[in-house]
Amino acid sequence: MSNTTNQQWGGRFSEATDEFVARFTASVDFDQRLYRQDIQGSIAHAKMLTKVGVLTAEECEAIIKGLGEIQADIESGQFEWSVALEDVHMNIEAALTKKIGITGKKLHTGRSRNDQVATDIRLYMRDEVDFILTEIARLQQGLLELSERNADTIMPGFTHLQTAQPVTFGHHLLAWFEMLSRDYERFVDCRKRINIMPLGAAALAGTTYPIDRTYTADLLSFSAPANNSLDAVSDRDFGIEFCAASSLLLMHLTRMSEELVLWTSSQFNFINLPDRFCTGSSIMPQKKNPDVPELVRGKSGRVYGHLMSLLTLMKSQPLAYNKDNQEDKEPLFDTVDTVRGCLRAFADMVPAIEARKEEMREAARRGFSTATDLADYLVRAGVAFRDAHEIVGLSVAYGIKTNKDLSDMTLEELQQFSDQIQEDVFEVLTLEGSVSARNHIGGTAPDQVRAAVVRGRELLARRG
Ligand code: ARG
Repeated sequence: MSNTTNQQWGGRFSEATDEFVARFTASVDFDQRLYRQDIQGSIAHAKMLTKVGVLTAEECEAIIKGLGEIQADIESGQFEWSVALEDVHMNIEAALTKKIGITGKKLHTGRSRNDQVATDIRLYMRDEVDFILTEIARLQQGLLELSERNADTIMPGFTHLQTAQPVTFGHHLLAWFEMLSRDYERFVDCRKRINIMPLGAAALAGTTYPIDRTYTADLLSFSAPANNSLDAVSDRDFGIEFCAASSLLLMHLTRMSEELVLWTSSQFNFINLPDRFCTGSSIMPQKKNPDVPELVRGKSGRVYGHLMSLLTLMKSQPLAYNKDNQEDKEPLFDTVDTVRGCLRAFADMVPAIEARKEEMREAARRGFSTATDLADYLVRAGVAFRDAHEIVGLSVAYGIKTNKDLSDMTLEELQQFSDQIQEDVFEVLTLEGSVSARNHIGGTAPDQVRAAVVRGRELLARRG
């Protein structure tokens, strides 16, 4: 191939492409991933050309049959991809012509690789977003199950990673559920702008054939043809949006990962991750490492990087198509693979998390986590909040000195700090009393957790 010019565009060239340049500019090694969408787009284009009288019905039939055979060849590993043919589009078109002769050469009428590639990526992204949405929902489903099982499980809630107030583990998990609901909405929103059809823009200015873009858009289930041909071939906003939504999702997964890593450590010892999600150490026989959450935490870097790559790729690009845009694919593909992998790992792992309820409870008991409850108790008895804060501060200092939690002190000991404290104080100093008192929408009370799980299930059901 090195001494011939490209069959599809070689007409005006007097020497062959430099061998290195041919390899350097080719994208077939990675864009062959788009073969299904390329064939799908070509079939719709051929049908539309037939409808408007540019192709005959027999030609259309031959094209569809040929493309079907090519798809089968690709899927059975018999297709020979050629770097000399540059990209997936020209490889498939050349193979079609080889199969069906001159009719194959008519497929590209009224079309350019510029609108073709933009269409292919959008079709591909649309499918991937749909899959990602189902995986987010599967993970959310798992979180609801685990929350329900742990609606009454008490753990310390943290601020500054210091014990703050007791919360229920179910409530903590539902915070993750909320993050994922926002991610879900972002992908749904991103899909709207993916689902616009570039075909018909041709190279940049549209085409002189009497095309019916609405018909092609319908065939491909796009919501509408793109409004402006120049924008249609050059827009990659949807890819950037996809990477932005993916970055936020990964950021959330890193937060969850971080907590899982902390909680599995012997210092916390809050949860057990089943062995199948962990690995061992080749030197330290006692180790069981939370590799899955650690790796997810690490993989966020790639996705953030791809967002930055695509923003930089598009920065300052003049209209319309530029070869720069060929560089959109690898970041997008790797983002898709990373997001799919991380979601799968999480969706499989989360329902299998086992809470160590006793350890969680003990940790909540240890950290004076009901101190705010004592302050609120004093306020209800008529003490101003700042004074109550001071009284509780002194009680905590006494507890540290005597190694006693507030709930372990006698009434007399507590009354040293305020004579407003009465026997009923012990109801608010218990962990159960503390969490069930926060009984409002969005609060940590077990009843609220159960109600939120019901609402979560309704939300998932409404999405269909
Ligand atoms: N492989 C190219 C890409 O991915 C296809 C479009 C090429 N268009 C062109 N005029 N060279 O962007």
